[in-house]
Amino acid sequence: MSSKYTALKDHDTPIKVLFTGYLITVGIGYMFALIQILLTHGMADGKFGLSVDDIVYSYYGNRSGTVLEQKLNGSMKDNAPDQERFDIIQWDRDGADIDDYKANGIEKIIQERCVMCHNKAASGIPNFNDFAQLKALTAQDEGATLASLTRGSHIHMFGISFIFMFVGIIFSFAETTSVKYKCIAIGMPYAFLIADIVSWWLTKFFPMFAWLVIFAGMGMGVSFMFMWVTSILEMWLYKPVFVDGIGFHYQRLKAEFAASSHEEKFKKLLWFSKYLINLMEKYLSVGLTLLKNFLKKNIKK
Ligand code: HEC
Repeated sequence: MSSKYTALKDHDTPIKVLFTGYLITVGIGYMFALIQILLTHGMADGKFGLSVDDIVYSYYGNRSGTVLEQKLNGSMKDNAPDQERFDIIQWDRDGADIDDYKANGIEKIIQERCVMCHNKAASGIPNFNDFAQLKALTAQDEGATLASLTRGSHIHMFGISFIFMFVGIIFSFAETTSVKYKCIAIGMPYAFLIADIVSWWLTKFFPMFAWLVIFAGMGMGVSFMFMWVTSILEMWLYKPVFVDGIGFHYQRLKAEFAASSHEEKFKKLLWFSKYLINLMEKYLSVGLTLLKNFLKKNIKK
């Protein structure tokens, strides 16, 4: 091992406490960020959980018609005969102008068919006696605005690059990861951060880039977790984990692996991949179900 730096486990305890305090705080911050993503973007398509549709609706918008049109073809369908619904939709598509509202007889339809429910007394649904409230439902949902994207982009780039600066510095003192993999783990979050922001803008104009938003976000999460776990373990549990624990088994397995035939090596690799996938599946399914149930219970809409 190179001795150009002090390995994490050899730092003085005050420094370890400082590093650990920082890591734990940003770790908790990361969890809140994930919950916020679930609550804002996750709900965009009206269903719980994050999907590609959520990302598309958040950035590109739901362009399959305005709220008024969607409702008239959905839950409000039975409230007016087809011809009258078409008239309202036509008026909506023509720009929902206040002059046409009276001239084309739309006001009459709304008064006859809708205001018995959509009036001042009704709470929670828009009041159609107030033209402004009806007008608000005739705007095309175009997702994130350029202003909100610009704001989000610079806050994210300044803020998150700082988090990865400090996590990266701490992790750079790790000694159980080879120099090559350390470079990858430290550099990757920056590449993913840029890819993440670029993908927001791409998705704003081309919805097919929504998958890139999810991919880049996951990439950042994976590198964060790897650096976080390695740093904490090296500082506080070096001996039990890396010397007596996995580290010990790792050395033994490596020697065994080197001594085996090609066919055996192949079998062992297969077995190991299966083992890893099973492990991940177990942790993910238990952890995610717990989180999901917790959120579902606490956020009844
Ligand atoms: C029987 C009562 C009733 C009538 C009549 C009615 N609505 Fe509604 N409307 C509701 C309720 C309740 C909701 C909220 C639940 C929902 O979105 O389905 C709603 C929701 C809506 C929404 C969505 C509002 C939002 O903020 O998302 C629109 C748009 C709408 N109605 C349009 C109309 C139009 C146009 C008519 C007349 C053709 C009409 N409604 C007639 C009861 C009614």
